[in-house]
Amino acid sequence: MSLQKIPSAGPEREALREKGQFWTPVWIAEAMVNYVLQDGCREIFDPAVGAGAFFLATTKIAGGNGKRIRLSGTEIDARALEEAKKNGLTSRDLSRVQITDFVLSPPEGRHRAIVANPPYIRHHRLSAAYKAKIREFGALSIGKPLDGRAGIHIYFLLRALQRLDLGGRLAFIMPADTCEGVFARSLWDWIGRNYCLQAVVTFAPEASPFPGVDTNPIIFMIRNVKPTQSFWWARCNRGETDALKEWVSSGFKRELDDLLQIFRRNLAEGLITGLSRKPMPQKATTLVLGNFASVMRGIATGANEFFFLTARQVAGLGITKEFLVPAIGRTRDVSGEEISVSTLNALEAKGRPTFLFAPDTRKMVDFPPTVRKYLKSGEALGLPQRPLIGTRQPWYKMESRPVPPFLFAYLGRRNARFIRNLAGVVPLTGFLCVYPLKNDPNFVEGLWEILRHPSTVANLSLVGKSYGSGAIKVEPRALERLPLPPEVLSRIGLEPRLESAQFVLPLAMAAG
Ligand SMILES: C[S@@+](CC[C@H](N)C(=O)[O-])C[C@H]1O[C@@H](n2cnc3c(N)ncnc32)[C@H](O)[C@@H]1O
Repeated sequence: MSLQKIPSAGPEREALREKGQFWTPVWIAEAMVNYVLQDGCREIFDPAVGAGAFFLATTKIAGGNGKRIRLSGTEIDARALEEAKKNGLTSRDLSRVQITDFVLSPPEGRHRAIVANPPYIRHHRLSAAYKAKIREFGALSIGKPLDGRAGIHIYFLLRALQRLDLGGRLAFIMPADTCEGVFARSLWDWIGRNYCLQAVVTFAPEASPFPGVDTNPIIFMIRNVKPTQSFWWARCNRGETDALKEWVSSGFKRELDDLLQIFRRNLAEGLITGLSRKPMPQKATTLVLGNFASVMRGIATGANEFFFLTARQVAGLGITKEFLVPAIGRTRDVSGEEISVSTLNALEAKGRPTFLFAPDTRKMVDFPPTVRKYLKSGEALGLPQRPLIGTRQPWYKMESRPVPPFLFAYLGRRNARFIRNLAGVVPLTGFLCVYPLKNDPNFVEGLWEILRHPSTVANLSLVGKSYGSGAIKVEPRALERLPLPPEVLSRIGLEPRLESAQFVLPLAMAAG
């Protein structure tokens, strides 16, 4: 099977996104098929056949063993099967593939071996009617509805587990949100109670099965037998090798140190830590950022082009200081770990906006004529009808934030970091605001030493959501659960606030 060429942007990429058509590479497909065909199973079911990666891997393995394996499956897009034929599958190989929607109208019957790379279509791309139907199916399966942000891949997994024979095996390759999303707890509590999670395989960014695609894939290997208390967890450090296949075929016994890091983990720990993350060091308790600071997202203007202005625009419009707040918009506007007045001057020289236009709640007629005129121009642009702005009273009332001593750039390619705010700016939504719980300058300085320490920054992976190529995203509440390294804390000797007891959590809980 030839490697899929993934267009980096444009309509072709969009078309792939709409249907979730990213093909599984051979080294992954073979490892997954090897898992489900153990126990001498002679059939395989793929609910999202696409260009046939798993069928091809199966025929290769079966050919080697001199036996025929029954292939069956579903696919929503008949054209994808044409591609499967070009890849070498015959009409006979594909004769038991039904063109249907696997989640809503799957074929009858159960299967002993199910393998899939389900479509990863983000929830906002699905129609409301379709979402309602799959949610209803999910609620019936696990006893309560999953959060609306669960994508179709999650329902593929539920449907496939429902169709897995007693004793049968399932291998799914899924994006990391399967165990990091808001719905993950309910999903995995249910899976953990009803099925046996045998293995989880994760990938170092440089070993990603889908290079250039912005997701962090994970393989789940599950059996329909009594749940056990432990499971295998592996991190694949190099792509395109046979290590994964060999480990799986050996029944998870082979040791392949540098290619594949392997841990035997306790299920409860894994579910609390998050299955995409390495096991946590066994420490009873640790202090987290929430013991020292609170976190809020930056300001959402609803229309940056109107409210976020350059020095030149401000001068041209004649808006006075009273209605302006120094502000920072984009993560890449701050390259280092500090934002100072000279950073702002440099941005202004480049024509980047640095002022937030922040009118108060007074009536339009009570503003000076220059501001009134500008607000009128906003009305002419239809701003009061925009989604976020439309909820404000009056529409031009801006959110406000005290100036945070620290900012956090929360989404970046290996670049999520804390920033010292020496310029008195408030940030827009590209950043989070970090407020120390005490204003004492020694406390603020000490906290800064802790925040910029590489061990603290390394812990971000324990609370963030991971994307492809090592990027992570951290939400405000998750940042408050960031474990702070005990050795750094004790060296700096900062007094935590412990009355907010929910933050003194066992280390594993801190990442939940
Ligand atoms: C990520 S691709 C995987 C294809 C192939 N099994 C592989 O691993 O390379 C997912 C496939 O699911 C198909 N698909 C999308 N929605 C579906 C649905 N509701 N039911 C069945 N197939 C669907 C897409 O057309 C696409 O071919």
